Amino acid sequence: MDPAVVLVLCLSSFLLLSLWKQSSRKGKLPPGPTPLPIIGNILQLDIKNISKSLSNLSKVYGPVFTLYLGLKPTVVLHGYEAVKEALIDLGEEFSGRGSFPAAERANKGLGIIFSNGKRWKEIRRFSLMTLRNFGMGKRSIEDRVQEEARCLVEELRKTNATPCDPTFILGCAPCNVICSIIFHNRFDYTDENFLNIVEIFDENVKIISSPWMQLCNSFPMVLDYFPGSHKKLFKNVAYVKSYVLEKAKEHQASLDINNPRDFIDCFLIKMEQEKQNQQSEFTLENLTVTAFDLFGAGTETTSTTLRYALLLLLKHPEVTAKVQKEIDHVIGRHRSPCMQDKSHMPYMDAVVHEIQRYIDLIPTNLPHAVTRDIKFRNYLIPKGMTILTSLTSVLHDDKEFPNPEVFDPRHFLDERGNFKKSDYFMAFSAGKRMCAGEGLARMELFLFLTAILQKFTLKSVVDPKDIDTTPITNGFASVPPSYQLCFIPM
Ligand code: HEM
Ligand SMILES: *[C@@H]1O[C@H](CO)[C@@H](O)[C@H](O)[C@H]1NC(C)=O
Ligand SMILES: *[C@@H]1O[C@H](CO)[C@@H](O)[C@H](O)[C@H]1NC(C)=O
Ligand SMILES: *[C@@H]1O[C@H](CO)[C@@H](O)[C@H](O)[C@H]1NC(C)=O
Repeated sequence: MDPAVVLVLCLSSFLLLSLWKQSSRKGKLPPGPTPLPIIGNILQLDIKNISKSLSNLSKVYGPVFTLYLGLKPTVVLHGYEAVKEALIDLGEEFSGRGSFPAAERANKGLGIIFSNGKRWKEIRRFSLMTLRNFGMGKRSIEDRVQEEARCLVEELRKTNATPCDPTFILGCAPCNVICSIIFHNRFDYTDENFLNIVEIFDENVKIISSPWMQLCNSFPMVLDYFPGSHKKLFKNVAYVKSYVLEKAKEHQASLDINNPRDFIDCFLIKMEQEKQNQQSEFTLENLTVTAFDLFGAGTETTSTTLRYALLLLLKHPEVTAKVQKEIDHVIGRHRSPCMQDKSHMPYMDAVVHEIQRYIDLIPTNLPHAVTRDIKFRNYLIPKGMTILTSLTSVLHDDKEFPNPEVFDPRHFLDERGNFKKSDYFMAFSAGKRMCAGEGLARMELFLFLTAILQKFTLKSVVDPKDIDTTPITNGFASVPPSYQLCFIPM
């Protein structure tokens, strides 16, 4: 047969199939823009500003609507009410993880971020316990973060008050905290193994955020049949996993059950306890994926937030001055900041919250999935359906936060200057899938920023009025534009 005829036949049956799939489900799903065959609603979205596109669509279709990303329908939840109803009130049903084909191929559904069901529950419970300071022996997590804060300050001092782009140094500190938790010691910022890890996660974020990856997720067959950056991603995953495995074997040789040094030791002890259990979730391979997940989730998120934080502090010198006055008053110039100080520092607390609210780091959250057929409002959402929640619509709600597009710590302060909590603060998401490293991330943001502002005056190389704080969104995370600054020792 003529190849052209084959092509036309294939395309048209594909087309028919996709039309049929769409119409067979339409009755139950929330409304939404009419999808084109095969490509769905992709042309109706601005890939550079997905969150804004969703917000525009919610004005037409309401807070709950259906989008087709390629052939795959996705239910979008927009606004506090809908997001809270799903993630919190129906927490169990909405606790599934939406599919991410590239990650599934790299992880085989193991680990914590992309796993589901019993496997996810057990690994998550274990990770939360370990990260919350139970079980990791004598050395607290706070102690590890404080150590890194001191090293970070020393590293910044080496810039000699000359203009520098802080990306690299601010990337090292959070990565080293994860190293300290997983491998029990931090690395020098020039250590070769360490630099390899930093670089790998930096590269992975770039790959995951690329339009190519968006394409791979909408059309997973691309992953199997085409070359491309996803191959590099798989290679990077394999490298980190083998490094962790090597370390785990060293740990096994020197393990003291009564004195776990780090996350690996805790995991090995759990493995030992479950030795008889054929179905145990605690295996060496699962350890390597979980460790990889902690790096992946805990490095770039925190370092991007820190980088954005300094840019906002440069843009708003009056805010910085107030923070520094509070630090002087509560901690002074010499003692290392600790978490206890936070309760006496409402302004700093408000500034950190406002930074996270304003930058809206992960605008459309990680994809969720429903764990069973569920009636939501007046719709029927079938088991396994991908759910996107707009965190932007919550963090930038204009009733809860008047002038949401303006950076203003008063969004988290009452009239008397006390810290004011908000249920709309969902930078870490909410419910059963909520960020497992929230406590750690908050500790890092508070201790690192306080330590920096205690020791340095930040000096912009351009007039603060000319600093542009609009994010360069990349489809997944909001990233600040690149900039330079000077750290002038006090
Ligand atoms: C500023 C820093 C951070 C932000 C804004 C952040 C935000 C988030 C968000 C939005 C999610 C998705 C939640 C959901 O699916 O509903 C998430 C998941 C996760 N985060 Fe974080 N995160 C940060 C730092 C960290 C750190 C330091 C760790 C440390 C280990 C971490 C570990 C995780 C893990 C393991 C998950 C997956 C949880 C699961 O699927 O059950 N994160 N994070
Ligand atoms: C959203 O709608 C506004 C006004 O209708 C339009 O100017 C803007 O381009 C739209 N943005 C996106 C990303 O769709
Ligand atoms: C990870 O845990 C799951 C538990 O469901 C187990 O089936 C799997 O074999 C483990 N991974 C490996 C390959 O060791
Ligand atoms: C997305 O669109 C909104 C409103 O149109 C704008 O304020 C925001 O800066 C845009 N974000 C990016 C990254 O272009």
